[in-house]
Amino acid sequence: MPHAAKVDFVPLASLSVAAPPAKAGGKVKPISTLVIFAGEDLNLGKATRGLIGEAGVALVKKAAGAAKFKGKTSSALDILAPAELAVERLLVIGTGGEEGEKSAKRKEHDKAKGPRDFLSLGGVVASKAGQASAATVVFDLPQNPKDAAAAAAEFAEGITLRSYKFDLYKTKKKDDEAGEPLAISIAVEDPAAAKRAAKGREAVAEGVLLARGLVNEPANILYPEEFAKRTRELEKLGVEVDILDKAALTKLGMGALLGVGQGSARESRVVIMRWRGDKGKDGKAKPVAFVGKGVTFDTGGISIKGAAGMEDMKGDMAGAACVVGLMHALAARKAKVDAIGAIGLVENMPGSNAQRPGDIVKSLSGQTIEVINTDAEGRLVLADVLWYVQDKYKPQFMVDLATLTGAVMVALGQEYAGLFSNDDTLSERLTEAGKETGEKLWRLPLGPAYDKLIDSKFADMKNTGGRHGGSITAAQFLQRFVNGTPWAHLDIAGTGMNAPVSDINQSWGSGFGVRLLERLVSDHYEG
Ligand code: BES
Ligand code: MN
Ligand code: ZN
Repeated sequence: MPHAAKVDFVPLASLSVAAPPAKAGGKVKPISTLVIFAGEDLNLGKATRGLIGEAGVALVKKAAGAAKFKGKTSSALDILAPAELAVERLLVIGTGGEEGEKSAKRKEHDKAKGPRDFLSLGGVVASKAGQASAATVVFDLPQNPKDAAAAAAEFAEGITLRSYKFDLYKTKKKDDEAGEPLAISIAVEDPAAAKRAAKGREAVAEGVLLARGLVNEPANILYPEEFAKRTRELEKLGVEVDILDKAALTKLGMGALLGVGQGSARESRVVIMRWRGDKGKDGKAKPVAFVGKGVTFDTGGISIKGAAGMEDMKGDMAGAACVVGLMHALAARKAKVDAIGAIGLVENMPGSNAQRPGDIVKSLSGQTIEVINTDAEGRLVLADVLWYVQDKYKPQFMVDLATLTGAVMVALGQEYAGLFSNDDTLSERLTEAGKETGEKLWRLPLGPAYDKLIDSKFADMKNTGGRHGGSITAAQFLQRFVNGTPWAHLDIAGTGMNAPVSDINQSWGSGFGVRLLERLVSDHYEG
């Protein structure tokens, strides 16, 4: 595991803090940081009140009055070295009044669908615990949820997601960054049940962190061959990993993908991963398939980008990273699904052998493409991988993820990823999974009038559609390679990297899509 907090579960009954250290005659080792929750009007849960006793409750009221702490969501009250309790620090986290984006509708949704907000709560606790080396959380709220184990597991997941930090290349750590990562003990009534529930969530959190790590890596370290090599790690979990090198891709006829990579000294790769958690009745399960854009660096090629912000293009493989993280999550929690993950890995560079504007390439599908702009390379890569996957595996559906267009940020900002689909059921299921996980999607249109915009004078199609509707014409392009398979395209240019930080993510590479697609699978496709 990369830099992230360590989490475990302990029995609530094992805690004791009511005796101040002085009175206990030095026999009780004080808990360093004790975290408790307070709701609206400083309501404390029953177990919390029992634990800290009347003196503790009075202390919280007094300190809250002094600090004007009202128990609002995401607010915190820090009480240092209280004389009343055997703790070095009492950290009170608000779980009361909702603010901002958490609308009444969302609350309703959370109630019906499960405890997404425990994820944020975990994030808030990890953040407010700050530089503490160890903390104990009394996992007891004024209104405890029905499924306490699931809530505790989500809470733990939130802690892990929030505390992830990518510091591989910092040789000089600041004082407050040195030392062991934060260790958090979550005190619950039934630790065994919480541990069981947390196992699956840990698998998902690991998948998210794996994806983030890949996105954060610089492109001199993570180029196609190295990226492909790292996917071999998944074999330890039972994932089949098949790496197609340049010779294999040439033999297959992936001319669109290879054209993008031909300007680079780094060879292109395609990786096919398969997790067979469901073998089907007759050994023939119909797989679900996920496809990722993995441009390890996008200079734009001969249609070169400007210098400002070009360093961000190391993240142009966020779609591929998500697919790898998702495969990890599914395999590590032994999901009962047959899932394929396919990624196209290339580096888009200018050079004497780079493809030129006006070049015509032949895709694996047989369709020819006029390359108008070498910076519209992601669709060329995906075209061949999508065609390969539908042709070879005949999946139930394909979902692709790609940092495909700057235009999607013009349309949706960085709150929502763009969703395009030829299938209403798949589209609705994805949108729903987006609401449940907070990885939100907004559907944009497709249609024949847009499709016409990529017809070419010289070839079957061209790779750009002009100034307007840039995300839509990119999706239309992809649709020409799905051959009628139920398909959805997620444009994650605004959400996969450099997205606004949140309660559960402080990393540049967000890992967007892992929790979303894991949820899609667990809600609808597990046998
Ligand atoms: N990787 C970029 C899209 C992108 C831009 C992702 C900014 C994340 C942040 C993609 O390959 C690209 O360059 N798209 C062009 C398409 C255009 C040439 C039709 C774009 O969006 O400008
Ligand atoms: Mn580009
Ligand atoms: Zn790109």
